[in-house]
Amino acid sequence: MEKIAYFVDLQPELEDFLSAVVKGFSSSRKSLPPKFFYDAYGSQVFDRICATPEYYVTRTEIGLMKDIGAEIRALAGPQNVVVEYGCGSSLKIHALLEALIDPAEYLAIDISKQHLINTVEEIVADYPDLRVGAICADFSASFDWPPEADQSGSRRLAYFPGSTIGNQMPAEAAQFLISVRRLIGEGGSLLIGVDLKKDIGVLNRAYNDAAGHTADFNLNLLRRINNELGASIDLSSFEHRAYFNAEKSRIEMHLESNIDQTVDIDGRTFSFKSGETIHTENSYKYSLAEFSELAEKCGFKPRKAWTDADDFFSIHYLDAR
Ligand code: AVJ
Repeated sequence: MEKIAYFVDLQPELEDFLSAVVKGFSSSRKSLPPKFFYDAYGSQVFDRICATPEYYVTRTEIGLMKDIGAEIRALAGPQNVVVEYGCGSSLKIHALLEALIDPAEYLAIDISKQHLINTVEEIVADYPDLRVGAICADFSASFDWPPEADQSGSRRLAYFPGSTIGNQMPAEAAQFLISVRRLIGEGGSLLIGVDLKKDIGVLNRAYNDAAGHTADFNLNLLRRINNELGASIDLSSFEHRAYFNAEKSRIEMHLESNIDQTVDIDGRTFSFKSGETIHTENSYKYSLAEFSELAEKCGFKPRKAWTDADDFFSIHYLDAR
């Protein structure tokens, strides 16, 4: 058995579900953080979303990664230390590692310890000659390059696929890019997947698939409140809503109460008017130029951006400036 070279646990503060729900439901505009979608069931449903004909995001990015491998290889050169932010799809990281010439190290960063361990163990098994490490950290907070990680001065190539950056408000996205820029240092680069603005019908359908998996994914938050916090919310009293907010250039997901009702959670009572919503997710859509500009403001020099044939999705290669 091959081994993980190092595992650095920065002990990220895990916001517990109860506090997040109480906080989100106590506000005049109710909300819940999208990170709570991904329990075991929610992660399964997310995979189902990715397989629907309407949700173009994942399949388009994977297709694009395969098409641009040779160009990434040329831009990145040999012996990169690959730093993956929020280890996600193994198809994407495999496409990257296979495109690169003789990568020096793979370092995964994730807030969830178990998810991180599973990912790095898989990479260790698939690439027995690659040095593999992990940092358990909240990557929205800034942190330093750990002493256990490669110190040879090799180029650092950060990878942030999935358009996960779209979940952040633009100001938070900027903070994140600045912290990536710090971590990769001089000579580093960032490869990042960013979903694009497009026809509103295409966007709205992608978040309202006919089979109802996105609705199931959204309602999973209420299922978790029932199962984990002892509530008894009638799931049929809330409806999945997802629509493109053109002014803010984002898909918004909400759960809309279809009756006046109260919900009891851990000794507290929250009331919902009919038509009132819980805002559960934003998914910002950028133009190529908007994202390049944002990256430039955060210390990067855009080198190249690729899109698929439909201009649905983009992958940006950015150098530290
Ligand atoms: C994983 C955050 C990129 O915003 O498209 C999919 C999550 N939400 N369908 C997205 C999601 C509803 C997805 N991200």
